[in-house]
Amino acid sequence: MSLLQLNLDGVRNLQSVDMAPSPRINLINGVNGSGKTSLLEGIHILGMGRSFRARQLKNVIQADTPYMTLYGRLEGDPQVSLGVRRLRGSSELELRVKGDKNARLADLVEVMPLQLINPDAFRLLEGPPAGRREFLDWGVFHVKHRFLEIWKRTRRALKHRNAMLRHGRIDPRELGVWEQELATWGEQMDTLRRAWFADFLPVFEETLERLLPLPGLTLHYARGWDKKRSLADVLEASRATDQQMGFTQQGPQRADLRIKLNKQPAIEVLSRGQQKLVVSALKLAQGRLLESASQRHCIYLIDDLPAELDAHHRSQFCQLLEDMQCQVFITSVEPEALRQAWQAQTTISMFHMKHRSDGLSQLVPEG
Ligand SMILES: Nc1ncnc2c1ncn2[C@@H]1O[C@H](COP(=O)(O)OP(=O)(O)O)[C@@H](O)[C@H]1O
Ligand SMILES: [Mg+2]
Repeated sequence: MSLLQLNLDGVRNLQSVDMAPSPRINLINGVNGSGKTSLLEGIHILGMGRSFRARQLKNVIQADTPYMTLYGRLEGDPQVSLGVRRLRGSSELELRVKGDKNARLADLVEVMPLQLINPDAFRLLEGPPAGRREFLDWGVFHVKHRFLEIWKRTRRALKHRNAMLRHGRIDPRELGVWEQELATWGEQMDTLRRAWFADFLPVFEETLERLLPLPGLTLHYARGWDKKRSLADVLEASRATDQQMGFTQQGPQRADLRIKLNKQPAIEVLSRGQQKLVVSALKLAQGRLLESASQRHCIYLIDDLPAELDAHHRSQFCQLLEDMQCQVFITSVEPEALRQAWQAQTTISMFHMKHRSDGLSQLVPEG
C-alpha cells in the first residue's frame, strides 16, 4: 500500500499540499516550524482518523479556515481513494473510502496501515498498558479478520458489566448474561492475540538483533487474567471485589506486552537510546509481519530520525526499511545526515518545506 497522490487543504500552516510521493523513500526537510510534522500529521489523520499530537482535531485546522480536507489515492488494482473532512464547527469526521460516504473508521484504517516513529515513541515502553494494547491490537486487526467483530462484542459486554457494578444495581440474571458474553468473546480475543503474538515474537527478535543485539531482552504477552483459569471462572470469583471496586478488574481489557531485560522491567534498566531502538524494532517488526502474513505493506511516518539515533544505528534502521520495500515519509532538519544513511543505489525523493511571506509553508519537490 503506498500513496500515489496526497492532497491536504486547511492543515496547520501548510499551503495546499498537492504531492505525488515516491512509492519508496520520501525525505522532507525544512527548518523548525516549517510544517514537516504537520505533513506527517495530515497523513496520519487520513489513515487513522486522528492526530498523534492534538487531542482535538479542530486544532489541526488552519487558523481562520472553516475546514480541512485530506485526500489520498493508494496504489492497487483498482486504486483506492480515501478522504477525510472536518469542519471547524462540527465534531463529526466525514469519511469517504472508495467513494463510499458511509465508510467507517475501521475501513480507513484497514486500507491504509500506518506506523509512526517519532520522538514520543519511546513512551510505548514507559507509558501505561493502553498504548501497548493498542500496538498489539493494531497487529491483530490487520492480520486476523474476525478481530474487529470480537473486539466490539467484548467491549460491549464489558461496558454492560461495568455499568451494573458501578451503579450497584445488580440483577443476578442480567449480570450472568453479560458475564457469559464477556467470557466467550474475551477468550476468543485472547486466542487471536496469542496467535498473533506467536508470529510476532520471532520477527521482533530478528529485527532487534539487526538493530541492536540485547541478549537477555524478553517480550511477553500477558492476557489480562490468571493464566491457569478460564475467564468465566475469574469473573465469577471476582464478582464481590469487582463490585466493591465498581469495575471489572481482570479480563482482556487488561492485556499487556511486557518487556524485560534479565527479568527487570526494560524501562528501568535500558538507556533512553536503547529504549528508542527497542521501540523502533517493535514498530518495524509490525510492518515486517504484516508483509509476510498478508503481503501488504504499511506506510511508515518517521519524524526527526537523525535527532534520535547515532549514525551507525541510523543506517541499520534505514537498511531495515529499505529491505521492507515499503513507503516511507521521513522528516529531517539536516537532510545530509539522513541522505548518508541509505545505500547508494536507493533512490530518495526529496521535498523541501519552504516558508512563504504570508506565513504559510509550501511543499516543494527537489530535483
Ligand atoms: N491550526 C494552525 N493554523 C496555522 N498554523 C498552525 C496551526 N497549528 C500550528 N501552526 C503552526 O504551524 C507550524 C507547524 O510546525 P510543525 O509542523 O511542527 O513544523 P516542523 O515539524 O517543521 O518543525 C508551527 O509554526 C505552528 O505555529
Ligand atoms: Mg517537527
